[in-house]
Amino acid sequence: CGIVGYIGFREASDVIIKGLKRLEYRGYDSAGIAILNGTLVVRKGKGKVANLESLISQTNVKGTIGIGHTRWATHGEPNDINAHPHWDGSQNFAIVHNGIIENYDALKQELQNKGHEFQGETDTEVLAHLIQEIKEVTDVDFETAVQMALKQVDGTYGLAIVNKNERDKIIVARKGSPLLLGIGDDEVFIASDASPIIEYTNKVVYLDDDEMAIISRDGYQVKTISNVALSKEVHELEMSIEQIEKGGFPHFMLKEIHEQSETIADCMRGRLVVEDNKIVLGGISAVTDRLVNARRLIIAACGTSWHAGLVGEYLIESLAKMSVEVEYASEFRYRDPLITEEDVMLVISQSGETADTLAAVREARSKGALVLGICNVVGSTIARETDAGIYTHAGPEIGVASTKAFTAQVTVLAMMAILLGQRRAKLDEKESASIIKAMSEIPAKVAEIMTKFDEVDAIARLFAYAPNFLYLGRSYNFPVALEGALKLKEISYIHAEGYPAAEMKHGPIALIDELMPVVVLAAADHTNDKMISNIEEVRARKGRVIAITTDNNQDVQRLSEFSITVPETHDLLTPLLTVIPLQILSYQIAVYRKCNVDQPRNLAKSVTVE
Ligand code: G6P
Repeated sequence: CGIVGYIGFREASDVIIKGLKRLEYRGYDSAGIAILNGTLVVRKGKGKVANLESLISQTNVKGTIGIGHTRWATHGEPNDINAHPHWDGSQNFAIVHNGIIENYDALKQELQNKGHEFQGETDTEVLAHLIQEIKEVTDVDFETAVQMALKQVDGTYGLAIVNKNERDKIIVARKGSPLLLGIGDDEVFIASDASPIIEYTNKVVYLDDDEMAIISRDGYQVKTISNVALSKEVHELEMSIEQIEKGGFPHFMLKEIHEQSETIADCMRGRLVVEDNKIVLGGISAVTDRLVNARRLIIAACGTSWHAGLVGEYLIESLAKMSVEVEYASEFRYRDPLITEEDVMLVISQSGETADTLAAVREARSKGALVLGICNVVGSTIARETDAGIYTHAGPEIGVASTKAFTAQVTVLAMMAILLGQRRAKLDEKESASIIKAMSEIPAKVAEIMTKFDEVDAIARLFAYAPNFLYLGRSYNFPVALEGALKLKEISYIHAEGYPAAEMKHGPIALIDELMPVVVLAAADHTNDKMISNIEEVRARKGRVIAITTDNNQDVQRLSEFSITVPETHDLLTPLLTVIPLQILSYQIAVYRKCNVDQPRNLAKSVTVE
């Protein structure tokens, strides 16, 4: 979900609507706004921010203080009632909330016993009533009532509250769900990430867990929810407004696919030093010794970032001969994981806010492990809570389906693998020089693949209405098969499975018939002969083979019904190239199916609930 708030001299609803649109990628089931203008006006409804916009154009919501929300449903279906903001029972104040109140059911029953009546099913409404109850029973001031209520809730929140009786004030608080303040001249912005505020100010204050801020016309004051005043550093953002706009492309995803030759180059800039056969990773230089000598490396991530982690496992094991395990961040914490000070955990997260990944960071740190991060969003919670890390520098990624973040993550992992290989003396100079040189050539090769757009499009058109897809790969390209299948599922709602090619005969082969498109990742690498056998097996069952292969791989091209070729590169680096046609394929299929590419149903870009 996304939160925007404003206090200052502008028309608050304009700032909030515009900001919510920039945050829509975080969820878009429903949206709402609350404006303080002598009274407190709340407008909200099911659907996108555009619906809210037309709703408020018919009513008077003028005012210079307000809060707004775009929702990704956790409790209660997306409808008008469950949309935020939520009122307390006496309709004095309104609250918007990201996160989950885990003990909401118990609190709700207690409040119902005391006579509270609820309109909807959300946990947030329970919090609003809890604050009201405390205020009425104890007669403390509003701010104290908020603090007392927050101490009673388990779970996570990023929230903002406006109160009819405190006309110049917004109260915000954070625990586990990001929130920041944008500091302007005579105005303060509130947002769950920087994208809504970047056009107004580049000065931001990040709230940490268990912190709140009281924002008024005179400025802002940050304190803990136990009421200890804090003085917070003001950070400067480097993001530009162009970076978060579509730049002439019909969708963010397409723009982001196109950007990859540049973003991979940006990711390597200053880090890949070809002439010295050297990798410089400043972000982890202070802890490199500990990393080099670690007993094992545990990589934890979710979604696409987890797929990048799997590629990283192959890379690091092969080049650095270091034991690597890749975990779903969400499962890691439930296993009472065996992790000690001798281990290093590496988390990968585009947003740097994924709740499960953050929980893995905290779990590993509590057990004494060194925790490193690969994040894209500068200043994000994971970037701040890890011991050290490497930014991917891919620029803001807005399309919900991750593309350029994935290739940047793999690029960072490849650089790490080379560095570790060199430092652990497992990679000789000649070999590392050849990989480093190959890496420097990747951006140009990615650009070359983009010229194949129409070839991929022709395949997309043909298979746009297939009900199922199978993706097969081996070795470095097995994670790419998973990623290709995920991309298709996410944005075109076609059921797709990624499989290690050799496992096909243990199950998925039963699905193959003349209607089944099978995407085979067959670079001319050490697995080529085996991949050719798999292609034959698919053909023998009349499956439709779509090969993603290399320019020189004549055998695969001859055997496959369709093939898209990518330039040759070092075996290790093929995922950076083979994934690109798969991104284009899923994008074009989603367009043919008239799906909402940038905001696929039920998904959110940044999942700050567990
Ligand atoms: C969500 C997004 C995915 C992303 C995953 C992990 O599911 O829709 O695109 O891969 O979260 O996000 P992170 O920001 O931690 O990489």
